[in-house]
Amino acid sequence: MNPAHAAHPASALVIDNWLETGWADRELRADVSVGLSSRPKELPPKWFYDDHGSDLFDQITRLEEYYPTRREREILDREAGAIAAASGAECLAELGSGTSTKTRILLDAFAAAGQLRRYVPFDNSDTTLRTAAGEVASAYPGLRVHGVVGDFEHHLGRLPLDEPADSEAAQFRPPAMLMLLGGTIGNFAPAKRPAFLDAVAAVMQPGDTFLLGTDLVKDTGRLEAAYNDAAGVTAEFNLNVLSVLNRRLGADFSLDAFEHEAIFDADNEWIEMRLRSTRAQTVHIPALEMTVDFAAGERMRTEISAKFRPARVRAELGAAGLVVQQMWTDVEGDYALTLARRMRQP
Ligand code: SAH
Ligand code: AVI
Repeated sequence: MNPAHAAHPASALVIDNWLETGWADRELRADVSVGLSSRPKELPPKWFYDDHGSDLFDQITRLEEYYPTRREREILDREAGAIAAASGAECLAELGSGTSTKTRILLDAFAAAGQLRRYVPFDNSDTTLRTAAGEVASAYPGLRVHGVVGDFEHHLGRLPLDEPADSEAAQFRPPAMLMLLGGTIGNFAPAKRPAFLDAVAAVMQPGDTFLLGTDLVKDTGRLEAAYNDAAGVTAEFNLNVLSVLNRRLGADFSLDAFEHEAIFDADNEWIEMRLRSTRAQTVHIPALEMTVDFAAGERMRTEISAKFRPARVRAELGAAGLVVQQMWTDVEGDYALTLARRMRQP
Protein backbone atom coordinates (compact mmCIF):
# COMPACT_ATOMS: atom_id res chain seq x y z
CA MET A 1 0.00 0.00 0.00
CA ASN A 2 1.16 3.54 -0.69
CA PRO A 3 2.35 4.69 2.77
CA ALA A 4 1.19 8.24 1.97
CA HIS A 5 -2.43 7.02 1.76
CA ALA A 6 -3.28 4.73 4.67
CA ALA A 7 -6.88 3.62 5.16
CA HIS A 8 -8.32 2.05 8.32
CA PRO A 9 -11.76 0.75 7.38
CA ALA A 10 -12.96 0.07 10.94
CA SER A 11 -12.59 3.69 11.99
CA ALA A 12 -13.27 5.21 8.53
CA LEU A 13 -9.93 7.00 8.74
CA VAL A 14 -7.95 8.03 5.67
CA ILE A 15 -4.79 10.11 5.70
CA ASP A 16 -3.24 11.62 2.58
CA ASN A 17 0.16 13.26 2.52
CA TRP A 18 0.48 15.83 -0.25
CA LEU A 19 3.83 17.14 1.01
CA GLU A 20 6.16 14.86 -0.91
CA THR A 21 9.66 15.30 0.58
CA GLY A 22 11.02 16.85 -2.60
CA TRP A 23 8.25 19.44 -2.82
CA ALA A 24 8.48 20.50 0.84
CA ASP A 25 12.28 20.69 0.65
CA ARG A 26 12.17 22.89 -2.45
CA GLU A 27 9.61 25.13 -0.75
CA LEU A 28 11.75 25.43 2.41
CA ARG A 29 14.88 26.20 0.38
CA ALA A 30 13.11 28.87 -1.67
CA ASP A 31 11.61 30.50 1.44
CA VAL A 32 14.93 30.55 3.30
CA SER A 33 16.95 31.70 0.34
CA VAL A 34 14.55 34.59 -0.43
CA GLY A 35 13.91 35.46 3.21
CA LEU A 36 17.55 35.62 4.28
CA SER A 37 18.47 37.68 1.21
CA SER A 38 15.74 40.24 2.03
CA ARG A 39 16.35 43.40 4.02
CA PRO A 40 15.28 43.12 6.77
CA LYS A 41 15.76 39.34 6.88
CA GLU A 42 12.64 37.28 7.25
CA LEU A 43 11.49 33.65 7.67
CA PRO A 44 7.89 32.55 7.06
CA PRO A 45 6.12 31.22 10.19
CA LYS A 46 4.95 27.97 8.63
CA TRP A 47 8.39 26.44 9.31
CA PHE A 48 7.88 26.72 13.09
CA TYR A 49 5.76 23.60 13.10
CA ASP A 50 8.02 20.55 13.16
CA ASP A 51 7.09 18.03 15.89
CA HIS A 52 8.79 20.07 18.61
CA GLY A 53 7.35 23.37 17.33
CA SER A 54 3.84 21.90 17.24
CA ASP A 55 4.29 20.67 20.80
CA LEU A 56 5.51 24.12 21.88
CA PHE A 57 2.49 25.76 20.23
CA ASP A 58 0.26 23.35 22.12
CA GLN A 59 1.95 24.48 25.36
CA ILE A 60 1.44 28.13 24.34
CA THR A 61 -2.32 27.57 24.06
CA ARG A 62 -2.38 26.70 27.77
CA LEU A 63 -0.31 29.67 29.00
CA GLU A 64 -1.95 32.17 31.33
CA GLU A 65 -0.80 35.10 29.15
CA TYR A 66 -1.99 33.57 25.86
CA TYR A 67 -5.71 34.42 25.94
CA PRO A 68 -6.77 33.73 22.26
CA THR A 69 -7.29 29.96 22.68
CA ARG A 70 -9.36 30.40 25.86
CA ARG A 71 -11.43 33.16 24.30
CA GLU A 72 -12.14 31.16 21.17
CA ARG A 73 -13.09 28.14 23.28
CA GLU A 74 -15.45 30.34 25.30
CA ILE A 75 -17.26 31.43 22.11
CA LEU A 76 -17.40 27.85 20.81
CA ASP A 77 -18.79 26.58 24.13
CA ARG A 78 -21.58 29.13 23.86
CA GLU A 79 -22.29 29.13 20.12
CA ALA A 80 -21.31 25.73 18.67
CA GLY A 81 -24.97 24.66 18.43
CA ALA A 82 -25.89 27.85 16.58
CA ILE A 83 -22.91 27.49 14.25
CA ALA A 84 -23.75 23.86 13.42
CA ALA A 85 -27.40 24.75 12.76
CA ALA A 86 -26.60 27.82 10.65
CA SER A 87 -24.02 25.96 8.55
CA GLY A 88 -26.15 22.89 7.85
CA ALA A 89 -22.85 21.27 6.88
CA GLU A 90 -22.37 17.56 6.26
CA CYS A 91 -18.61 18.02 5.85
CA LEU A 92 -16.33 20.08 8.09
CA ALA A 93 -12.87 20.93 6.70
CA GLU A 94 -10.42 22.53 9.11
CA LEU A 95 -7.36 24.37 7.78
CA GLY A 96 -4.37 24.44 10.14
CA SER A 97 -6.21 21.99 12.39
CA GLY A 98 -3.24 21.27 14.71
CA THR A 99 -4.38 19.02 17.56
CA SER A 100 -8.09 19.53 16.67
CA THR A 101 -8.77 20.11 20.38
CA LYS A 102 -11.30 22.97 20.19
CA THR A 103 -12.80 21.29 17.14
CA ARG A 104 -14.39 18.71 19.41
CA ILE A 105 -16.76 21.34 20.77
CA LEU A 106 -18.09 21.76 17.24
CA LEU A 107 -18.02 18.04 16.50
CA ASP A 108 -20.16 17.46 19.61
CA ALA A 109 -22.64 20.10 18.44
CA PHE A 110 -22.77 18.59 14.95
CA ALA A 111 -23.21 15.13 16.48
CA ALA A 112 -26.16 16.40 18.54
CA ALA A 113 -27.71 17.78 15.35
CA GLY A 114 -26.99 14.45 13.60
CA GLN A 115 -25.90 16.03 10.34
CA LEU A 116 -22.12 15.73 10.02
CA ARG A 117 -20.71 12.82 7.98
CA ARG A 118 -17.17 13.87 7.30
CA TYR A 119 -14.29 15.73 8.97
CA VAL A 120 -11.26 16.87 6.93
CA PRO A 121 -8.41 18.09 9.16
CA PHE A 122 -5.67 19.72 7.05
CA ASP A 123 -2.26 20.70 8.39
CA ASN A 124 1.36 20.78 7.27
CA SER A 125 2.59 19.13 10.48
CA ASP A 126 2.57 15.39 9.70
CA THR A 127 2.72 13.83 13.18
CA THR A 128 0.30 16.30 14.71
CA LEU A 129 -2.20 15.78 11.89
CA ARG A 130 -2.00 11.98 12.04
CA THR A 131 -2.37 11.88 15.82
CA ALA A 132 -5.28 14.32 15.85
CA ALA A 133 -7.11 12.63 12.95
CA GLY A 134 -6.71 9.21 14.61
CA GLU A 135 -8.00 10.46 17.95
CA VAL A 136 -11.02 12.15 16.37
CA ALA A 137 -11.84 9.03 14.34
CA SER A 138 -11.78 6.90 17.51
CA ALA A 139 -13.83 9.38 19.53
CA TYR A 140 -16.55 9.87 16.88
CA PRO A 141 -17.51 6.47 15.45
CA GLY A 142 -19.57 6.90 12.31
CA LEU A 143 -17.73 10.08 11.32
CA ARG A 144 -15.52 9.61 8.27
CA VAL A 145 -12.21 11.36 8.89
CA HIS A 146 -10.09 12.23 5.87
CA GLY A 147 -6.91 13.90 7.11
CA VAL A 148 -4.62 15.74 4.72
CA VAL A 149 -1.00 16.68 5.34
CA GLY A 150 -0.72 19.66 3.01
CA ASP A 151 0.03 23.34 2.64
CA PHE A 152 -3.01 25.59 2.69
CA GLU A 153 -1.18 28.19 0.63
CA HIS A 154 -0.84 25.72 -2.26
CA HIS A 155 -3.21 22.78 -2.00
CA LEU A 156 -6.67 24.15 -1.25
CA GLY A 157 -7.94 23.34 -4.75
CA ARG A 158 -7.63 19.61 -3.96
CA LEU A 159 -9.48 19.74 -0.63
CA PRO A 160 -11.53 16.49 -0.44
CA LEU A 161 -14.89 17.97 0.55
CA ASP A 162 -16.82 14.99 -0.79
CA GLU A 163 -16.48 11.24 -1.28
CA PRO A 164 -15.24 10.64 -4.85
CA ALA A 165 -18.23 8.39 -5.62
CA ASP A 166 -20.70 11.04 -4.45
CA SER A 167 -19.15 13.87 -6.42
CA GLU A 168 -19.30 11.90 -9.67
CA ALA A 169 -23.00 11.21 -9.17
CA ALA A 170 -24.24 14.65 -8.17
CA GLN A 171 -23.87 18.09 -9.67
CA PHE A 172 -23.69 19.63 -6.21
CA ARG A 173 -22.11 17.93 -3.22
CA PRO A 174 -23.67 18.19 0.28
CA PRO A 175 -23.01 21.46 2.14
CA ALA A 176 -19.59 21.95 3.68
CA MET A 177 -18.15 24.28 6.29
CA LEU A 178 -14.50 25.29 6.05
CA MET A 179 -12.81 26.80 9.04
CA LEU A 180 -9.59 28.49 10.10
CA LEU A 181 -9.40 28.90 13.85
CA GLY A 182 -6.88 30.18 16.37
CA GLY A 183 -6.28 33.54 14.65
CA THR A 184 -4.07 31.81 12.06
CA ILE A 185 -5.33 34.21 9.34
CA GLY A 186 -3.31 36.84 11.22
CA ASN A 187 -0.08 35.01 10.35
CA PHE A 188 -0.50 35.80 6.64
CA ALA A 189 1.15 38.93 5.30
CA PRO A 190 -1.76 41.33 4.65
CA ALA A 191 -0.92 41.33 0.94
CA LYS A 192 -1.36 37.53 0.85
CA ARG A 193 -4.72 37.42 2.67
CA PRO A 194 -6.90 38.31 -0.36
CA ALA A 195 -5.45 35.49 -2.49
CA PHE A 196 -5.85 33.03 0.39
CA LEU A 197 -9.49 34.04 1.00
CA ASP A 198 -10.16 33.87 -2.76
CA ALA A 199 -8.74 30.32 -2.76
CA VAL A 200 -10.99 29.38 0.18
CA ALA A 201 -14.03 30.85 -1.61
CA ALA A 202 -13.08 29.08 -4.84
CA VAL A 203 -13.49 25.61 -3.29
CA MET A 204 -16.83 26.56 -1.76
CA GLN A 205 -20.19 26.03 -3.44
CA PRO A 206 -23.00 28.55 -3.04
CA GLY A 207 -24.47 27.97 0.43
CA ASP A 208 -21.24 26.61 1.96
CA THR A 209 -19.93 28.43 5.02
CA PHE A 210 -16.56 29.57 6.33
CA LEU A 211 -15.87 29.95 10.06
CA LEU A 212 -12.99 32.30 10.79
CA GLY A 213 -11.31 33.03 14.14
CA THR A 214 -9.63 36.41 14.51
CA ASP A 215 -7.86 38.00 17.44
CA LEU A 216 -9.01 41.60 17.95
CA VAL A 217 -7.07 44.82 18.51
CA LYS A 218 -6.70 45.54 22.22
CA ASP A 219 -4.35 47.27 24.62
CA THR A 220 -0.68 46.84 23.86
CA GLY A 221 0.24 45.49 27.30
CA ARG A 222 -2.00 42.43 27.03
CA LEU A 223 -1.03 41.81 23.42
CA GLU A 224 2.68 41.91 24.11
CA ALA A 225 2.34 39.79 27.28
CA ALA A 226 0.65 37.06 25.20
CA TYR A 227 3.80 36.79 23.04
CA ASN A 228 6.34 37.29 25.85
CA ASP A 229 5.23 34.72 28.42
CA ALA A 230 7.11 34.53 31.68
CA ALA A 231 7.96 30.83 31.26
CA GLY A 232 9.72 31.53 27.95
CA VAL A 233 7.70 29.03 25.89
CA THR A 234 7.06 31.53 23.08
CA ALA A 235 10.78 32.36 23.01
CA GLU A 236 11.57 28.65 22.61
CA PHE A 237 8.90 28.36 19.87
CA ASN A 238 10.45 31.32 18.04
CA LEU A 239 14.03 29.99 18.31
CA ASN A 240 12.88 26.53 17.21
CA VAL A 241 12.71 27.73 13.60
CA LEU A 242 16.51 27.92 13.67
CA SER A 243 16.68 24.26 14.77
CA VAL A 244 14.47 23.38 11.82
CA LEU A 245 16.93 25.09 9.47
CA ASN A 246 19.89 23.41 11.19
CA ARG A 247 18.32 19.97 10.84
CA ARG A 248 16.83 20.26 7.36
CA LEU A 249 19.41 22.43 5.63
CA GLY A 250 22.54 21.58 7.64
CA ALA A 251 22.74 25.21 8.86
CA ASP A 252 24.86 26.13 11.88
CA PHE A 253 22.69 28.68 13.70
CA SER A 254 23.67 28.98 17.39
CA LEU A 255 20.38 29.28 19.22
CA ASP A 256 22.06 31.06 22.12
CA ALA A 257 23.28 33.83 19.79
CA PHE A 258 19.71 34.98 19.04
CA GLU A 259 17.08 36.48 21.33
CA HIS A 260 13.31 36.37 21.09
CA GLU A 261 11.45 39.68 20.66
CA ALA A 262 7.73 40.35 20.23
CA ILE A 263 6.38 43.87 19.94
CA PHE A 264 3.03 45.33 18.93
CA ASP A 265 3.31 47.47 15.81
CA ALA A 266 0.48 49.93 16.39
CA ASP A 267 0.57 51.33 12.83
CA ASN A 268 0.11 47.94 11.23
CA GLU A 269 -1.93 46.54 14.13
CA TRP A 270 0.11 43.35 14.30
CA ILE A 271 2.39 41.60 16.75
CA GLU A 272 5.77 41.16 15.17
CA MET A 273 8.04 38.35 16.37
CA ARG A 274 11.70 38.60 15.61
CA LEU A 275 14.98 36.93 16.40
CA ARG A 276 17.66 39.44 17.33
CA SER A 277 21.28 38.55 16.71
CA THR A 278 23.13 39.22 19.99
CA ARG A 279 26.48 39.59 18.21
CA ALA A 280 28.01 39.95 14.77
CA GLN A 281 28.09 36.45 13.30
CA THR A 282 28.19 34.44 10.09
CA VAL A 283 25.86 31.49 9.56
CA HIS A 284 26.49 28.77 6.97
CA ILE A 285 23.66 27.01 5.17
CA PRO A 286 25.31 24.21 3.15
CA ALA A 287 22.13 22.99 1.43
CA LEU A 288 21.79 26.46 -0.14
CA GLU A 289 25.51 27.05 -0.53
CA MET A 290 24.83 30.26 1.37
CA THR A 291 26.64 32.19 4.06
CA VAL A 292 24.63 34.82 5.89
CA ASP A 293 26.09 37.67 7.91
CA PHE A 294 24.20 39.09 10.87
CA ALA A 295 25.23 42.40 12.44
CA ALA A 296 25.15 42.72 16.23
CA GLY A 297 21.57 43.67 17.14
CA GLU A 298 20.18 42.83 13.67
CA ARG A 299 16.56 41.69 13.73
CA MET A 300 15.07 38.96 11.54
CA ARG A 301 11.27 38.84 11.34
CA THR A 302 9.83 35.35 11.98
CA GLU A 303 6.09 36.02 12.32
CA ILE A 304 3.43 38.65 12.18
CA SER A 305 0.18 38.05 14.02
CA ALA A 306 -2.35 40.60 12.79
CA LYS A 307 -5.03 41.83 15.16
CA PHE A 308 -8.34 42.76 13.55
CA ARG A 309 -11.24 45.13 13.88
CA PRO A 310 -14.69 43.70 13.00
CA ALA A 311 -15.12 46.03 10.00
CA ARG A 312 -11.90 44.72 8.47
CA VAL A 313 -12.98 41.09 8.92
CA ARG A 314 -16.27 41.85 7.11
CA ALA A 315 -14.54 43.79 4.35
CA GLU A 316 -11.89 41.14 3.63
CA LEU A 317 -14.40 38.28 3.63
CA GLY A 318 -16.77 40.35 1.49
CA ALA A 319 -14.05 41.04 -1.05
CA ALA A 320 -13.76 37.26 -1.53
CA GLY A 321 -17.53 36.93 -2.04
CA LEU A 322 -18.12 35.61 1.49
CA VAL A 323 -21.03 37.36 3.20
CA VAL A 324 -20.93 37.55 6.98
CA GLN A 325 -23.95 35.83 8.54
CA GLN A 326 -22.97 36.30 12.15
CA MET A 327 -20.04 37.47 14.25
CA TRP A 328 -19.64 36.45 17.88
CA THR A 329 -17.15 37.76 20.43
CA ASP A 330 -16.26 36.60 23.94
CA VAL A 331 -17.63 38.67 26.82
CA GLU A 332 -14.42 40.70 27.09
CA GLY A 333 -14.46 41.51 23.36
CA ASP A 334 -10.97 40.05 22.92
CA TYR A 335 -11.61 37.66 20.05
CA ALA A 336 -14.15 37.13 17.26
CA LEU A 337 -15.56 34.11 15.46
CA THR A 338 -17.23 34.95 12.17
CA LEU A 339 -19.52 32.74 10.09
CA ALA A 340 -19.66 33.78 6.43
CA ARG A 341 -21.53 32.22 3.54
CA ARG A 342 -20.60 31.88 -0.09
CA MET A 343 -23.45 33.38 -2.07
CA ARG A 344 -24.58 32.50 -5.58
CA GLN A 345 -22.62 34.23 -8.30
CA PRO A 346 -24.54 37.27 -9.57
N1 SAH B 1 -6.16 25.55 14.73
C1 SAH B 1 -5.34 25.25 15.88
C2 SAH B 1 -3.83 25.37 15.58
C3 SAH B 1 -3.34 26.76 15.24
S1 SAH B 1 -1.58 26.81 15.07
C4 SAH B 1 -5.72 26.15 17.02
O1 SAH B 1 -6.58 27.01 16.83
O2 SAH B 1 -5.17 26.00 18.12
C5 SAH B 1 -1.42 26.92 13.33
C6 SAH B 1 -1.51 25.56 12.67
O3 SAH B 1 -1.45 25.76 11.26
C7 SAH B 1 -0.37 24.62 13.03
O4 SAH B 1 -0.89 23.36 13.37
C8 SAH B 1 0.50 24.57 11.77
O5 SAH B 1 1.13 23.32 11.61
C9 SAH B 1 -0.51 24.87 10.69
N2 SAH B 1 0.05 25.55 9.53
C10 SAH B 1 0.83 26.66 9.50
N3 SAH B 1 1.10 27.03 8.23
C11 SAH B 1 0.49 26.10 7.44
C12 SAH B 1 0.40 25.93 6.04
N4 SAH B 1 0.99 26.78 5.20
N5 SAH B 1 -0.33 24.89 5.56
C13 SAH B 1 -0.94 24.02 6.42
N6 SAH B 1 -0.89 24.14 7.75
C14 SAH B 1 -0.19 25.17 8.26
C1 AVI C 1 -1.03 30.08 15.18
N1 AVI C 1 -1.00 31.52 15.43
C2 AVI C 1 -2.35 32.09 15.30
C3 AVI C 1 -0.32 31.92 16.67
C4 AVI C 1 -0.44 33.45 16.88
O1 AVI C 1 -0.85 33.85 17.96
O2 AVI C 1 -0.17 34.20 15.93
C5 AVI C 1 1.13 31.51 16.64
C6 AVI C 1 1.88 32.02 17.82
N2 AVI C 1 2.99 32.70 17.75
C7 AVI C 1 3.40 32.99 18.96
N3 AVI C 1 2.50 32.53 19.83
C8 AVI C 1 1.56 31.91 19.14
